[in-house]
Amino acid sequence: MLTSMITQIKQLLKQKNAVLVAHYYVSGDLQTLAEETGGIVSDSLEMARFGRNCVADTIIVAGVKFMGETAKILSPEKTVLVLDDKATCSLDEDCPIAEFSAFCDQHADRTVVVYANTSAEVKARADWVVTSGSALSVVKHLHQQGEKILWAPDKHLGNYVNNETGADMLLWQGSCVVHERFKADALIALQKQHPKAATLVHPESPQAVVELATVVGSTTALINAVKNREEQTFIVATDNGIFHKMHEVAPHKKLIEAPTMGTGADCESCAHCEWMAMNTLEKLLETLNNPQNEIKIDKNIAQQAQYSIQKLLDFTEK
Ligand code: 13P
Ligand code: SF4
Repeated sequence: MLTSMITQIKQLLKQKNAVLVAHYYVSGDLQTLAEETGGIVSDSLEMARFGRNCVADTIIVAGVKFMGETAKILSPEKTVLVLDDKATCSLDEDCPIAEFSAFCDQHADRTVVVYANTSAEVKARADWVVTSGSALSVVKHLHQQGEKILWAPDKHLGNYVNNETGADMLLWQGSCVVHERFKADALIALQKQHPKAATLVHPESPQAVVELATVVGSTTALINAVKNREEQTFIVATDNGIFHKMHEVAPHKKLIEAPTMGTGADCESCAHCEWMAMNTLEKLLETLNNPQNEIKIDKNIAQQAQYSIQKLLDFTEK
């Protein structure tokens, strides 16, 4: 049954000259399929870059809405489909364009830097778009130019970047519902049980958790840490969809989920984004047979948003 579904998906991808672009948080079967069929599994920055550079007619995004929108903004001539149009992100939801735009107007002297986890409209209002893998270097650069920053929407990532760069940053107060649940007190207890383990933390986590990290970084940076570091055990504070790739790159290393439930919790599958989980093989097959969740963006919005995303791609290619 599963094999027949995968065979059908592979045939349809070829037939429609479509490519599957997946995030590390979606299910392992989708990640494997993306790689086996000439697509990619990666962090949000490389998903955007791959979509822009690929020659397919159709990009199918296994991730959340903002990832589909970014792909469409960078490749307006391609058809971009998502597997479920309700798969959103709390950061995107927490930053509605009308309020955000008013906030920008009130602080017109500041350079507007927004995280990729935002709507096309918010990106269009921004001077720069960044991802977790690029936020530090972009803000450092802007700080060196003497610019004051208005940051949105993730307060935890903003706070981390602020602490690291010393830039003058005014923060929007959004958060990721998945990373916000990691608990510092329970993490300290877990670290005591595994004194030789390295702790890997995504910077969408609260400051108290970030302060306990051996490595803070994007999904790609955390996977590279598991692959390249000498430790044999890792405590991982990010969505547990990432374990699929981590196990693949370092099959003999031990991976432990960071706790989300307070001291004493022995957490299995706690940190998983409900919107990423909406991506399934069944929906991929359905999308290929009946392409209904196409991303459409107003032309003017898309052009303005493209300008700020392109700046990021150029900056990170330097
Ligand atoms: P990355 O850019 O690190 O993949 O993060 C995207 C995301 O949504 C994390 O929650
Ligand atoms: Fe958004 Fe958090 Fe889900 Fe990432 S894990 S898509 S930031 S809600």
